[in-house]
Amino acid sequence: MENTYLTKKDVIQINEDTFIVTFNEKFKFDEGQFIMIQTPSLTRKPFILGTWEDNIAVSVQIKGKGTNYIVFQGEKFKAHFPLGNKFIPPAGKGIVIASPTCITLANLLHEKYSCNVLIGSKSKINLELPFESVVGNEDFSKKIKTLKTYDWYLVSGSKQMEEFVLSNIESKNVFVSLEEYMGCGIGACKSCAVFTKDGVKHVCTDGPIFRRDML
Ligand code: FES
Repeated sequence: MENTYLTKKDVIQINEDTFIVTFNEKFKFDEGQFIMIQTPSLTRKPFILGTWEDNIAVSVQIKGKGTNYIVFQGEKFKAHFPLGNKFIPPAGKGIVIASPTCITLANLLHEKYSCNVLIGSKSKINLELPFESVVGNEDFSKKIKTLKTYDWYLVSGSKQMEEFVLSNIESKNVFVSLEEYMGCGIGACKSCAVFTKDGVKHVCTDGPIFRRDML
């Protein structure tokens, strides 16, 4: 685990409010792990790690001053990584169903496991993706309801999107990424506690990806 500085390489716009940020540095991490990036107010923001165009990358949705700083102003960031646990998908053909905020992890899993990816975006997507995407709730909902059967599913997006997808998938092998609910990222603040069938778990140290049937 490192607590060091990363420098921004590139910023690529995905849709109206979400951007891929790539880094110059290379470091080891496993699929499913995340990074905490410090902003000028000293708040640390969690982002799931992934890749884009052979660079280590995160995707950042602009939600306020901190995320605005990461995308538009900052060039060098104090960061703590890699955190959380490795996601190992079950055998067979899987699909990642994600919002643009999880696009770099989806890309990494697509490259490593040849899984399918479906990105559901609220607004027009501005770049060419190496996998399928749909824009708007109506098309996304149609797509989910007619989805073919896969051996495993990983779902990552807003709470509303996750609930919708989960209510439409019948499978033992469904996983959900809960990375957005973290504060410190290292097990200290307890703000990421979730109630599971196996007692209270912490997203940062027990996740961030959980089996649906545990939640
Ligand atoms: S984010 Fe602080 S304990 Fe998990």
